[in-house]
Amino acid sequence: MLAEFLAARRYLKQRSQPGQGDANSSDGGYSLIPQEEVGQSPGSCSNLEEEEVDADKEGSPKEEGGVTLSSHKRILWRLFGLAMQEWSYLALGLVFLVAASISQALLPRLTGDVINSIVIDKSEEDMEEALRSLTLFSLLCALFSGLRGTCFLVVNTKMNIRIRKDLYQSMLKQEIGFFDQNKVGDLTSRLSSDTNKMSDQIGLNLNVCLRSVVQSIGLLAYMLLSQWRLTLVTFIAVPLVSLLSKVYGHYYHLLAKAVQDQQARCNADAEEVIGSMRTVRSFGCEEEEVRRYEQELQEILRLGIKQASAYTGYMFCFTGAPLLVTVAVLYFGGHMVFTHLLQPGDLVAFVFYQQSLSQAINSIGDVYAGLMQAAGAADKVFDIIDRRPATCPPSSSCSFSSASCSSPTHSSLLLSSSSELSKEQLQGSITFQEVSLVYPSRPDALVLDRVSFHIDPGQVVALVGSSGSGKSSCISLIERFYEPTGGEVLLDGLSLSSYDNSFLRRHISLVGQEPVLYARSLLENIAYGLGREVEEAELRRRVTLAARQACADEFIMRMEDGFSTHAGERGSHLSGGQKQRIAIARALVRNPSILLLDEATSALDTASEAQVQKAIDESMKGRTVLVIAHRLSTIQRADKIIVLSNGLVVEQGTHKELLEAGGAYAELVSKQVSID
Ligand SMILES: Nc1ncnc2c1ncn2[C@@H]1O[C@H](COP(=O)(O)OP(=O)(O)O)[C@@H](O)[C@H]1O
Ligand SMILES: [Mg+2]
Repeated sequence: MLAEFLAARRYLKQRSQPGQGDANSSDGGYSLIPQEEVGQSPGSCSNLEEEEVDADKEGSPKEEGGVTLSSHKRILWRLFGLAMQEWSYLALGLVFLVAASISQALLPRLTGDVINSIVIDKSEEDMEEALRSLTLFSLLCALFSGLRGTCFLVVNTKMNIRIRKDLYQSMLKQEIGFFDQNKVGDLTSRLSSDTNKMSDQIGLNLNVCLRSVVQSIGLLAYMLLSQWRLTLVTFIAVPLVSLLSKVYGHYYHLLAKAVQDQQARCNADAEEVIGSMRTVRSFGCEEEEVRRYEQELQEILRLGIKQASAYTGYMFCFTGAPLLVTVAVLYFGGHMVFTHLLQPGDLVAFVFYQQSLSQAINSIGDVYAGLMQAAGAADKVFDIIDRRPATCPPSSSCSFSSASCSSPTHSSLLLSSSSELSKEQLQGSITFQEVSLVYPSRPDALVLDRVSFHIDPGQVVALVGSSGSGKSSCISLIERFYEPTGGEVLLDGLSLSSYDNSFLRRHISLVGQEPVLYARSLLENIAYGLGREVEEAELRRRVTLAARQACADEFIMRMEDGFSTHAGERGSHLSGGQKQRIAIARALVRNPSILLLDEATSALDTASEAQVQKAIDESMKGRTVLVIAHRLSTIQRADKIIVLSNGLVVEQGTHKELLEAGGAYAELVSKQVSID
């Protein structure tokens, strides 16, 4: 009950006093003892609020029959386990913590001694002696507290780094379908704010919990032994205050949530409007939108004022009540002084002890809320860390055993045992055997319906069909971004799933419609994925060759920094055509047996298209090529054309054969519109 009251009190204080919720004033009274918290990031208060509101929505853990409680317990144990990996810093922190607590516990007693030496002994010498001790222990307390904080901060940081690395590693190993289903913003917030919340809260609360428990036990024992009557008085008002806090806390909580909801609505509306500025401008709705926004702000103001008014009640309940306890202690203590049961200095010391105890218990109440917050964040993070990708990631960097992947994948290439092919060889034949595909994010749409075709090594094959017919999906399957729902994709006669993914990445390259470059040098962009095992000189040789094949060497050499030129954020320092040629060079640098081209020129203007087309023609030589293009000249030259419609192969053959057949392809050509 006491813990609940204290947690509610702290929580409401944070809500109502943005930026003022410092621990020094948390008891509304005076305190000699420094109140310090370490490791809490500035945003922690507001995060705590969100979590608490969320927790409230879900119902309290106790009410849910222990389900949430037990899962949170499991998560918390796991988190503690992570923290324990830094046991050396934790142990050191604990030593400083005990030292700081002992010196802190002596301070009220020494203050009492100073007062007694002034009031009772009236001895300057005794006063100076007591003051010297007080100074010494105050300084020691400050020093040990600082050292304790440092140790726990190091634990926080180390833990945070470890969780982030594990999370990032796990994210990047997930199958592509996972990224269809999870928004980039959500994943990055897992990576930043959730991991911070986890480590901050665990570090902070371990620190606070250990400190408060050590302090509370010590203080309570001392108070009971020295002044048991006054100790009892201290606890008289607690049940009363607890009841008040429950009733008032609920009301205040509802108000705070209403403000938060309204703020979220307001932000969502503004985001929508800013994101669709063209529409707003073209309909001339700027003023109208400002008016709407203002109305929403007015509602926030109204709720905010209501919340601010409720602050009076909050102050009265939560700050006035402990002060009344102090008054009661002073009243009884004063009488004890008059009846010579107590010395004035001892009374002052007791009041300080009472304040310290109240703060220590207060902090223990906060620990629960903090830990729940950490568990909430950790739940989402551990979900991703523990998630097994549906397809196995490249084994080179794979820390999962192949058994941990849900599809039957082998951790090494099967070819060496089952055929004469060595690891470095791939002939490049591709076969689709009755392949069907349903995307995990759209389980009700059959995107490919028993698609079958065969491509011989070294052939150039064009996939044509209207937009949405399933061309890119075929390429995604060859890249193993998705697993077929039915049928099989074969490479050199063997199922794609029997190959090691890193082998596939080395031998299959893809150039997409929108080149994705990274904010790194051109050299790094072209060499992307080559691996560290390639030596510097060899790497340069291969990059230069690939750039030449991709007709990119000319413009790169014209640049001041050549291959060291920085590509800019998402390649923003380059033109569209240049970016695409870098992307082609990146695909060619590994000299792939199979080249997949998915509308590589369709996002370009005519001038760049001609340059990139030249690069593509060059790059097709000597390998199996599956091309999706809208230029008739590219399609015409293909050894085979496969026509897709609504996920079905409707025709296949050469340009000539298909024209003669007079079917879907002939129709597409006769329309003389670009075939996309
Ligand atoms: N990642 C995805 N998740 C869900 N549906 C998808 C995804 N990619 C494509 N689709 C759907 O699959 C169908 C075929 O798409 P796609 O293969 O990209 O066609 P094309 O390349 O021929 O234009 C379309 O209906 C499209 O909406
Ligand atoms: Mg496409």
